[in-house]
Amino acid sequence: MNNIFKLDRNKLGSQRAQKVSTALFVLIAKRRIVSFFTSLVLVLGLAMPATTFADTIAMIGTGSVGSALGPRFASIGHQIVYGSRSPDSEKVMALVEATGNEASATTPAAAVRQADIVVLALPWAVAEEVVIGLGDLSGKIIIDPINPRIIDDEGWADYPTYTSNAERIQILAPNAMVVKAFSTISVDTMIDPTLVDHPITIPLVGNDSEAKEVVAEICEALGFETMDFGPVRYAHILEGLYLLRGNARLYDNYFEWNFPASKRGNFSGRKP
Ligand SMILES: NC(=O)c1ccc[n+]([C@@H]2O[C@H](COP(=O)([O-])OP(=O)(O)OC[C@H]3O[C@@H](n4cnc5c(N)ncnc54)[C@H](OP(=O)(O)O)[C@@H]3O)[C@@H](O)[C@H]2O)c1
Repeated sequence: MNNIFKLDRNKLGSQRAQKVSTALFVLIAKRRIVSFFTSLVLVLGLAMPATTFADTIAMIGTGSVGSALGPRFASIGHQIVYGSRSPDSEKVMALVEATGNEASATTPAAAVRQADIVVLALPWAVAEEVVIGLGDLSGKIIIDPINPRIIDDEGWADYPTYTSNAERIQILAPNAMVVKAFSTISVDTMIDPTLVDHPITIPLVGNDSEAKEVVAEICEALGFETMDFGPVRYAHILEGLYLLRGNARLYDNYFEWNFPASKRGNFSGRKP
């Protein structure tokens, strides 16, 4: 820095050198200010928990998925309200206790009224009926982990319909923001993503980009990677990823999806 400055002073004469000197001073001062604030942000970031947002999340259903995701969401700061057909049962009370962070349980409709985010941890066959009973879902983010499937006599899982659960829910709740997420992973890795020795990607689809960002933030705080695959009309494909994973198990192949982003970029610059 000093050598360059001396060279400039010789070349430019004292008046111009003064301007350069002032410019350098301003640049260095600006850099020091930026560096100070960057350090401040870093220190604050390290001092704060992994996530700085805290929503109330209604977990509708207290089966395998509800009782896997509820405590994990609570562990990153969210308050969980379980919506159950039997909120006062011993099983649900034990789940509330295990979840902590001021979790509670009530009926599904009452849980939804308290929440900004609703998770449908329900069997696909009853999902629409339950959603109709939830009341007004306008403005809420609905996380849909549901995998509709029929299983034939040999154990092969298949699509039961030509549409998807997520699209059906979006039609039932047009002013809610449905985001398909968590459908492609197992309940074991929902609880502990480090069970496998590679990152796990949660693919997301949904019509609302901001809602997908919120869900991505939650997934990432839980230790997953995410990838956005577009609007909800592609949920049919995501729901198919479960079918492939489930069917591979018939050959004793157990895996979790990982979609590492390619470093190749878009070589041709053309749109796909
Ligand atoms: N298990 C997995 O590994 C996994 C992984 C990814 C996605 N999924 C998907 O996530 C969804 C939930 O799966 P899960 O394994 O948590 O299912 P589950 O263990 O059967 O639990 C479903 C819960 O839904 C609630 N529910 C409400 N109405 C119901 C009704 N009429 N009949 C039965 N249950 C009713 C129940 O909670 P209350 O008794 O409290 O009402 C029940 O515990 C499914 O659609 C599945 O495809 C599962």
